[in-house]
Amino acid sequence: MAYTVGVDLGTSAVKALVVDREGQIIDEVSRPLSLSQPKSGWSEQDPEEWVKETVEALKILTDRLEKDVSEIEGLSFSGQMHGLVLLDQKYNVVRPAILWNDTRTTEQCQEIYEKVGEKKLLSITKNPALEGFTLPKILWVKEYEPENFRRAMTFVLPKDYVRYRLTGELCMEYSDAAGTLLLDIENKDWSTEVCKAVGLPISFCPPLVASTNQTGTVTLTETGLSRNTKVFAGGADNACGAVGTGILREGKTLCSIGTSGVVLSYEADAGKDFGGEAHYFYHAAPDALYTMGVTLAAGYSLSWFKDVFAPGEEFEDFLEDVEEVPPGARGLLFTPYIAGERTPHADATIRATFTGMDSSHRREDFVRAVMEGITFSLNESIEMFRKNGKKIDTIISIGGGAKNEEWLQMQADIFNATIVKLKSEQGPGMGAAMIAAYGCGWYDTLADCADSFLEEAEYFEPNRERVETYKRLFSIYQKVYHQTEELSEELKDFRK
Ligand code: XUL
Repeated sequence: MAYTVGVDLGTSAVKALVVDREGQIIDEVSRPLSLSQPKSGWSEQDPEEWVKETVEALKILTDRLEKDVSEIEGLSFSGQMHGLVLLDQKYNVVRPAILWNDTRTTEQCQEIYEKVGEKKLLSITKNPALEGFTLPKILWVKEYEPENFRRAMTFVLPKDYVRYRLTGELCMEYSDAAGTLLLDIENKDWSTEVCKAVGLPISFCPPLVASTNQTGTVTLTETGLSRNTKVFAGGADNACGAVGTGILREGKTLCSIGTSGVVLSYEADAGKDFGGEAHYFYHAAPDALYTMGVTLAAGYSLSWFKDVFAPGEEFEDFLEDVEEVPPGARGLLFTPYIAGERTPHADATIRATFTGMDSSHRREDFVRAVMEGITFSLNESIEMFRKNGKKIDTIISIGGGAKNEEWLQMQADIFNATIVKLKSEQGPGMGAAMIAAYGCGWYDTLADCADSFLEEAEYFEPNRERVETYKRLFSIYQKVYHQTEELSEELKDFRK
């Protein structure tokens, strides 16, 4: 039998899974990762911990494999996007990685607009300057840590660094490069114009490859893998999530609720213009793209709430009574802006709210309100896509939001669409394993691989009455941002 491995380097954990030629998951491992938040709005991780935990996960899998490890033919990666890993001349890490959900760079986003020009930036990179993207982070280090910046010769994104440590080959692939704000999307190359405007030499940008390209073999033997195991570049977690759920042709939409939440839709060409409203990035499927809306703190809002108010409790128990609570959580409304927001409000300063708290509210009302608030936020992206002419009547749901039946039904009712749950909803990790399967030549196309690997398991249909209730609640939800924008700004000085 032959196998491939998909490694999904997330924010809260690194997961690795082994699949066989039919896409059956043979084994999987998850290793938690720690997150450092030295100041409000800052979010950092130690790249060495990513490597250590990935190696540990692979070692566990190879030790448990009851076959010869040489049967693992290929491996690929899915990775959290945008995180800045600065490397010196010898490819040593210069400082902790600054992550996608770190929002310290509002000033640098402004600087990019001033130096490049907002219209120019949008026409080249097809994306606006957002705090989470990589270029503002590079400029922050340049401004505030000149000594570190002087040592830095190049940069990569999180999974690229882990791949480098496993293979000794350094490169970046297009789906992640698209989230740096340095890629010329239509020309599919680093933008000399953007680099020049912000004062970066083009040599600062690493070599680019396609997601499905082979980038060496595993040379780090501590993994337990054979030195012949082929390594394929892999993709951004959202691109891999799209592969791993079969979002491989026009008309397919994905909703993924992980630490962040995304709504993503397939695009066949790079020539469109969304005016920066939606993220517009390369897919991991050859030459395709996708548009996406992002809720910064989706699953993170729920895990934050649980960690603060029900520490130590199992998630299953924590969510148990939510189905008893009626839609609208008895008049309690939550906006999930605990780390600022991206879509549709690109705002690093806004903070979350509970509106309508009543002395009769119990904990389960709060939990339902948090779940609804996250789903309302994702619905803002769906509504934006619909306004741009996309037909969205069926959505594949993955991540934490697909693990709970009540939440799946809530998505159907709030999105007013059929929600599909897959038999295996491993999303990004499965996508990475599929990229390796395609790279190994098991299938002619990723779509063929998806047809063989993926199976739809359950469907959740919108309930007419609840759809109407949620429509009314959604219009109240949409007002909260505007009514708390100024208050969040005023409270900013107290966030230490
Ligand atoms: C996308 C984004 C997040 C991360 C999460 O732009 O920032 O979805 O990729 O890992």
